[in-house]
Amino acid sequence: MGEPEVIVARDLDDLAARAAERVVDGLAAAIAGRGRADIALSGGSTPVALYRRLAVAPWRDRLPWEQVRLWFGDERYVPIDHPDSNMFLAQQTLLGRSSYSSETREAARGAGGPGEPVVGIPVPAVNVHAFAIGEALAEGHDAAWVAERYAADLADELPAGEGGDPAFDVVLVGMGPDGHILSCFPGSPALADDAPVCLAVPAPTHIAPHHPRLTLAPRVLRAATTVLVLVSGSGKATIVRDALGGDVTPEQLPASVLRRDGVTWMLDEAAAALLPG
Ligand code: 6PG
Repeated sequence: MGEPEVIVARDLDDLAARAAERVVDGLAAAIAGRGRADIALSGGSTPVALYRRLAVAPWRDRLPWEQVRLWFGDERYVPIDHPDSNMFLAQQTLLGRSSYSSETREAARGAGGPGEPVVGIPVPAVNVHAFAIGEALAEGHDAAWVAERYAADLADELPAGEGGDPAFDVVLVGMGPDGHILSCFPGSPALADDAPVCLAVPAPTHIAPHHPRLTLAPRVLRAATTVLVLVSGSGKATIVRDALGGDVTPEQLPASVLRRDGVTWMLDEAAAALLPG
């Protein structure tokens, strides 16, 4: 298994700066290698500082963003213009687009046309792969339908990596106070080695927001080239200590599956305060 790389930044702003470097390096390497790059974004509050940094100079100008495709590691089962939506968060902070309608990606293709740049990082709307929640709500499909559709899109669009899973070039992951990653909470069926690539998750009662979720299975992260776990704040210090050194199982603490080589944990000093040395 090996051990992960652990980077300790002074504070959240420094963490965002270092993470921006890693994200741009990872995407640039993929573009150099295969002419495109696929990144899975995280929800939550921690990555916001990173997204805002990427959305402006110099980072906005560091990549041919039209060759980048954005995906999501998980999503809340709400319309993409709902304030709790991870897509909404990305629009507001990374894409700078405040009026992305609740269209699916296909409908957006007609609305804006492929290649239409958006404010923020100039990723064409057609490259932004939101979960088809709006479509499901409009047509009466359930969350499982959305999950299956997303998994099919990933299989169509990404190369196959370890275990035949879709291979992201970069994956951003946050960790909740209960040690969840993505929307994979302790005891989740998503933790199974034979879990589907993407699955619907009932609304968590212990973690806000209490919406049903969609999540990639953590197993998919094994196929990724760059996995960055971004954790900030003293409130996470204990769970970080346990995730990186505790005698825990993934069922107890899902983030512990990322205690392995090939993964980079990017912490601020407050979150790293209880780590040895
Ligand atoms: C989500 C995220 C979730 C998040 C953690 C940490 O949809 O909420 O994917 O996994 O990363 O809950 O959230 P914070 O960064 O807000 O602490």
